[in-house]
Amino acid sequence: MALIHGGQLQQVAKQFNIAPENWLDLSTGIAPFSYPIPDIPEKSYQELPQSSHDLETAAKHYYDANSLLVTNGSQAIIKLLPTLWSEQNSHSTTVYLPEQGYKEHALAWQTAGFTLCWYQDELPAFTEIKKNSVLVIINPNNPTGQLYNRSILINYQEKLAKCNSLLVIDEAFIDVIKPSQSMTNTINNSNNTLILRSFGKFFGLAGIRIGFLIGEETWLEKFREHLGAWQVNGPAQYIAGKALVDKRWQKQQQQNLKTLSARLRAVLAENVPFEFTTTISGTDLFQTVYFKEGIDVEHYYVALCQQGVYVRLTDDKRALRFGLAKVEQLERLANALASINN
Ligand SMILES: Cc1ncc(COP(=O)(O)O)c(C=O)c1O
Repeated sequence: MALIHGGQLQQVAKQFNIAPENWLDLSTGIAPFSYPIPDIPEKSYQELPQSSHDLETAAKHYYDANSLLVTNGSQAIIKLLPTLWSEQNSHSTTVYLPEQGYKEHALAWQTAGFTLCWYQDELPAFTEIKKNSVLVIINPNNPTGQLYNRSILINYQEKLAKCNSLLVIDEAFIDVIKPSQSMTNTINNSNNTLILRSFGKFFGLAGIRIGFLIGEETWLEKFREHLGAWQVNGPAQYIAGKALVDKRWQKQQQQNLKTLSARLRAVLAENVPFEFTTTISGTDLFQTVYFKEGIDVEHYYVALCQQGVYVRLTDDKRALRFGLAKVEQLERLANALASINN
């Protein structure tokens, strides 16, 4: 089964009969400014990609992690994880997942035969968590933006370790939040925690397919074995190696995203009628508007598409998630939203 994601512009453009180049595409949480592509040495294209000591050192520093695996994005790990966990713990049959959140996690566990137990904003109570289970947390959550405090996550980590359970934290959007909230430096000697870090969102380069799995070495070795050689292409490794050490660019990016996120929030608050909405929440990489019960959110989505503005209708059709618009695109978004109200 293929899930619906943002970023499927070709398909939506065809559906609404508007040429792809005429769209304002705000359907993903990928930064609208990307790390500038450096001059890439020809050998990065010519040679088979080897693991790069420089890239690993840069990544360990950026992510504050002692051991990590360079992957071709979090997605590859999300898909493989249930099989590897089942090999390690054959008694494990239950996974706790956020009801709202990136649905590829649920699909992977379901495909591997696990029973899915959903939690809403509150994490499942300690007393409810079964032995030999898995808890998946997306922190901050996409699309709600909810952030679980690190001290709470550490309590869960300890509790799960005592009952042979696995903690999976997907930190795809955490780069825009204080580094001290990340759990990446808690995995020393803890083989019950895996953390996923996406490179593409904050650095605005989702197309190069690179990401990082942070976990204890025995876990990384299992993934290495299953994934096999040459997972991450040479140019992607080269670009990420430069981006991860470029503190100046990272700081500028943080500021730009913060400014654009505030501008986006203001446009949404001004142009979606207050009486239709409950909350606007998100991160500095996207903002999600939640609508009151009884409001036809799909109608809003379609009305935006008809004007060539592509956003993400959440799976439960209760909300619209908006990726960041560049300053010069905000007026078009505001006009499109305002025209729906009139
Ligand atoms: C929460 C979350 N995790 C993981 C991913 C996958 O990211 P990637 O494979 O590009 O690292 C996404 C993609 O949108 C996401 O939203």
